Amino acid sequence: MGKLFTPRLLAVVALSLAPPAAALVVLGAAGSISFVWVTLVIVLGLVAGSLVATSVARVSVLRAERLDAVAQALAHRQPPSHLLPAERDLMSRVEHRLLEAADAITAEVHMLDEQRDEFEAILRSMTEAVVVTGRRGGVVLLNGAARQMFELAPAANYGGRDLVELCRDPRLQEFVARATSSGGGEVMSSEILIQNPAERYLQVTAAPVRHPDGAGAANHSAEMNAAWVFVFHDLTQLKSYETVRADFIASLTHELRTPLSAVCGYAETLAQGVDDPETGRRFLGIIERQSRRLSRLIDDLISLSDLERGLTPLKFEPLEPRRVLEEAAELMREQARRAGITLEVKSAPDLQAIPADHDRMQQVMLNLLDNALKYTPRGGKVAAETRAAGIAVNGGKPGVEFVVADTGEGIPAADIPRLTERFYRVDRARSRELGGTGLGLAIVKHIVQLHQGKLRIESRLREGTTVTVWFPATRP
Ligand SMILES: Nc1ncnc2c1ncn2[C@@H]1O[C@H](COP(=O)(O)OP(=O)(O)O)[C@@H](O)[C@H]1O
Ligand SMILES: [Mg+2]
Repeated sequence: MGKLFTPRLLAVVALSLAPPAAALVVLGAAGSISFVWVTLVIVLGLVAGSLVATSVARVSVLRAERLDAVAQALAHRQPPSHLLPAERDLMSRVEHRLLEAADAITAEVHMLDEQRDEFEAILRSMTEAVVVTGRRGGVVLLNGAARQMFELAPAANYGGRDLVELCRDPRLQEFVARATSSGGGEVMSSEILIQNPAERYLQVTAAPVRHPDGAGAANHSAEMNAAWVFVFHDLTQLKSYETVRADFIASLTHELRTPLSAVCGYAETLAQGVDDPETGRRFLGIIERQSRRLSRLIDDLISLSDLERGLTPLKFEPLEPRRVLEEAAELMREQARRAGITLEVKSAPDLQAIPADHDRMQQVMLNLLDNALKYTPRGGKVAAETRAAGIAVNGGKPGVEFVVADTGEGIPAADIPRLTERFYRVDRARSRELGGTGLGLAIVKHIVQLHQGKLRIESRLREGTTVTVWFPATRP
């Protein structure tokens, strides 16, 4: 409890007693009353005055302590205690009203805290970079994606910094400057290719911050007119998909046009009549070969698009790796014999069955064996093998590997990473001449991925190529 007898309280008691005391002293001096009475009355007055003052002071000290508790609770954003004496005087009513106001404020503060947490969570989880600027372009808020996009430190405080200064690309700087100086309060949007800090294709939107009620806006006009929300949407990946698609269509058109114009050309010539029957047969042979090529191309395209769009879901069943390999090799034997290549098949004993789609597995093996036989000269060797693998590799997952190794022409190292792209070939003319579509390895890659497997291509020029596909022993 605080001090009861403050000097001010003592002064009040002394001052209120002074006039009657003075009157009593005068009366005592005039002999009207005896000094004993005068002293007695003054002492009694002092004692009574002090008692009244003490009780008044005690009430005010308690009240001051309660107000102090309310202030402390508010300072700690906590609701204040509601223990009040059941008094009905004016000050008590004021105290009640103060408590109600404090309650309303703490409830509001909690709600704002929650809203702020939600807002921050939304900003954090957004893939788009968001920057809010206040007066004169100073940054008020920026999310993690924005820090990443502009390569800013993850924890540094950029509050108040100029946005133009943070985004170091001149085209972006020009956009920010144009948006913030437009003054019209219009939403601006633009697609910008930036080079700094990395090459990215961005869609940038700048929206002015509007106040919901006009009065508020008038009060804050200086600040609010200058506040902007910038959203940076990274379109790089989308653009690269678009480019891939456009390239694919261009390649496809090209691939279709060549055999088609051969078919048309020779058919026209034959229709006009060819005197020499031998020449006629040769033309027909060309037409047949080109039509087969077209049909292979269409088959591969359908396969690829089915795989890509997931139209034909895989039918997983336990397959014996040895059977898979031998079945495929059997189908390729005739081709190997015609090409003058030895085809060796080897299988580790007691290999466990793997969960896989039979027809798709065949497609993988046939494609790999076909490539090995096509790109290996006469007299060469193709060895196909299956074995348990994956203890150290593939994160310790058990699995089975199929390896197709040839003694062929090999592949330049620079081409290896691109072989699984659609229509990519090391030697386009040669692949066509050998009846290739350029889609085989793209199909292989898709099938392997759908089985959660791995594809590895190793090669040495003029020594040979080894393609390994790994499949997990259990379904993921
Ligand atoms: N075993 C191999 N030896 C040499 N080159 C190969 C081998 N396998 C694939 N390639 C190269 O990879 C390219 C792409 O293969 P693929 O997608 O199967 O298409 P295609 O066989 O129809 O040409 C081939 O054109 C060839 O240049
Ligand atoms: Mg092929």
